Amino acid sequence: MKNKMMVSIPEIQKNAYPIFIGSNVILNPKKWLPNDTNLSAIVIITDHTVKKYYGTALKNLLKSQGHPCFLIAFPAGEKYKNNQTKIKIENTMLRRYCDRKTLILALGGGVVGDMAGFIAGTYMRGIPYIQLPTTLLSMVDSSVGGKTGLDTPQGKNLIGLFNHPQCVVMDVGLLSTLSQKNIINGLIEAIKVFMTNDVKSLKYTQRNLNKILLCDSNVIKELVARAITLKASIVERDEKEQGQRAILNFGHTIGHALEHLSQYKIPHGFAVAYGILVEAKISQLLGLLPENDYVIIKNLITALGINGTQLKKYPLNHIIQQTKLDKKNQAGKVRYVLLRRMGCTHVVNNTFVHSVTDKLVKQAIHLVSEG
Ligand SMILES: NC(=O)c1ccc[n+]([C@@H]2O[C@H](COP(=O)([O-])OP(=O)(O)OC[C@H]3O[C@@H](n4cnc5c(N)ncnc54)[C@H](O)[C@@H]3O)[C@@H](O)[C@H]2O)c1
Repeated sequence: MKNKMMVSIPEIQKNAYPIFIGSNVILNPKKWLPNDTNLSAIVIITDHTVKKYYGTALKNLLKSQGHPCFLIAFPAGEKYKNNQTKIKIENTMLRRYCDRKTLILALGGGVVGDMAGFIAGTYMRGIPYIQLPTTLLSMVDSSVGGKTGLDTPQGKNLIGLFNHPQCVVMDVGLLSTLSQKNIINGLIEAIKVFMTNDVKSLKYTQRNLNKILLCDSNVIKELVARAITLKASIVERDEKEQGQRAILNFGHTIGHALEHLSQYKIPHGFAVAYGILVEAKISQLLGLLPENDYVIIKNLITALGINGTQLKKYPLNHIIQQTKLDKKNQAGKVRYVLLRRMGCTHVVNNTFVHSVTDKLVKQAIHLVSEG
């Protein structure tokens, strides 16, 4: 298992950045902090919950090693990933005379990573930042790939930019305080990427499911390394989501629709799990995905306590209507990532997303909701 990987994005090859994966790696900043002696300050951006568990301790550790360092925290939760929070953080940084030699540490889950990465991209036209993900979702997904941004009343992640960190430090020991719900939430994103790309890793996940749910650090390290290796290789080939990166959206057309309909009460990963069930069923109905493979997918999602019958809460027409607002749509057509078989997506003439009739989508949702 690799403890250090490099991600290199073709367009910005000179900016290839390392990803460190380990236990207690965060406690050894000499390993991951830049050697730049000109750094004027280090700002830890985090949320109130992570501040309590790890933020203050990290600030004290860096100060004890002679780094000028302070911490800015905002309330935890998706509803604070907005422009007001961004402005408040920027104002604090300006008041504290942060300049272009300031380094930001994004310590937290995907919300903190998206927010801090966006601030780093626009503060004084761009300052460096490091991702220190603390949730499983941010380790297997959001901290790598360079997408940053915030939500608006009109929708999620509508304002932002591509901005890659200097490095990513994944300390799996930090997951010991994470709730089971948040572990499952992140695990689903890993399962999603394995279903589209890597049968061996899917089998690894099935075999080790109990250990993952109990946060066994060796198994989690392996899971994170496998998921992030795949994500990095996809991002390296298609940084700005012009083509292949779209397959990371498997389960997301229906997932995003459900998230929105539930007014974000269904956590993202759980919504994607329902999306995986429906989009795999569409693939099966189209004669692409063998029935056996669909059953494997259904059993794995069920083992996480997620059941398709929950979909009955949402009227079919409302789900269909909501998919019409998906970012992947083109010329009014709703497009889906489909599976050809387990570990392999359906690709036609270099096209990774495919339009499907509303009738077929409704049929798939109905079948999944029957259990
Ligand atoms: N940029 C990308 O490519 C990308 C990809 C996927 C998701 N996202 C974004 O990620 C966000 C979701 O991320 P998330 O699921 O990590 O949610 P989150 O950041 O809201 O974290 C979930 C909760 O866990 C708490 N928490 C974090 N680390 C903890 C720890 N170690 N111990 C105890 N509690 C901890 C947080 O305070 C929060 O309450 C969404 O905004 C989504 O849009 C971005």
